Amino acid sequence: MNERRKLILRTLGLTPLWRSRSGMSGPLVTDSAESLDSDNAPDIHLPEQPIQPDIQHMDWEQLAETVTHCNACVLRKTCTQTVFGVGDRNADWLYIGEGPGAREDELGEPFVGQAGKLLDNMLAAIHLKRGENVYITNIVKCRPPNNRNPSDSEARQCEPYLSRQIELIKPKLIIALGKVAAQNLLNSGDSIANLRGKIHTYSGIPLIVTYHPAYLLRALPEKAKAWKDLCRARELMQTLT
Ligand code: URA
Repeated sequence: MNERRKLILRTLGLTPLWRSRSGMSGPLVTDSAESLDSDNAPDIHLPEQPIQPDIQHMDWEQLAETVTHCNACVLRKTCTQTVFGVGDRNADWLYIGEGPGAREDELGEPFVGQAGKLLDNMLAAIHLKRGENVYITNIVKCRPPNNRNPSDSEARQCEPYLSRQIELIKPKLIIALGKVAAQNLLNSGDSIANLRGKIHTYSGIPLIVTYHPAYLLRALPEKAKAWKDLCRARELMQTLT
């Protein structure tokens, strides 16, 4: 079946098609759109533009709307709502965590629980404030159940959204919060110990890895290392602006 016919069917909400395997009285089975008798398909006028632009061409509103209605992975089945991101859409600083927790799932905003309070303090320590020249989002936009880590495939499904957010924001510096964010952004299996202390890049944008604030809440002695990371980030930003 050609692309035009597939688009017609999708536009009309007619996929997947259902047909009887053995005449009208037989059991109904799903079938691919390939089986449609193309000669009998209605002649429908198609709009010039695709129904929904590709993610990489979306503006903020289209992107946010698409994320809200995303069902690409199983996470949407158990979360309350999607958590898109928060802050200044022209920020120099982009902070990326792993995925919403219980409180974020409830309120629809990233980092609003205990870890979020610590993140706000970490921002304040380098004279930054949520929403002011700072944007905060996550690798996945839906809460993984029981606060488990997002799987590789869930992170992959969500990646185009994050990638478009980054293209739109054009941050000067990305801070990856914790192992899951760092490994996904850097496409690396390295430990956080190896990833910290270096300047990486994501699509040409400098990226610094630090500990996740939720981890710091459990491992207070590591706070000194996180402080070092923040100071390094601040110094780097000074060279970038
Ligand atoms: N942890 C994250 O990684 N992201 C949030 O938004 C909240 C907690």
